[in-house]
Amino acid sequence: MLSLRVNGSTHVLDLEPEMPLLWVLRDELGLTGTKFGCGIGACGACTVLIEGVAVRSCQVPLSAVGSSAVTTIEGLSPDGSHPVQRAWIEHDVPQCGYCQSGQILAAASLLAKNPAPSDSEIDAAITNICRCGTYPRIRAAIHRAASLGNG
Ligand code: FES
Ligand code: FES
Repeated sequence: MLSLRVNGSTHVLDLEPEMPLLWVLRDELGLTGTKFGCGIGACGACTVLIEGVAVRSCQVPLSAVGSSAVTTIEGLSPDGSHPVQRAWIEHDVPQCGYCQSGQILAAASLLAKNPAPSDSEIDAAITNICRCGTYPRIRAAIHRAASLGNG
């Protein structure tokens, strides 16, 4: 049995320790806001926060999480009011939406360590792929979130 802390709740799970965190979140806990894209750490659709740092959950075995706090898009804020979420709404960032939970969490992680990133710092830090090409709106929304504060 392994325990896992997600969005403030502790879950005791009888699962293989090597199961990727992505599948634990989606299939065992029903947190389907975290998306599967590539499964090889390349696209970022599966991004979640571990202790506030963006990680690609398809590449993290359950056993590696230990007692660290995991935050998914469902737990970023109780009511969608995190500055990144507010900025995303203001700038109408999503197109199809598939990549967006990962983009939002990657942005939150960036802003937590760099409260006012430049365009080049955003481009270097946010390597999540968006097939709809929403990158200009993502950049604009990150600047807006920076002006709103980091929540
Ligand atoms: S599904 Fe994890 S990086 Fe693409
Ligand atoms: S909004 Fe469609 S993949 Fe990013």
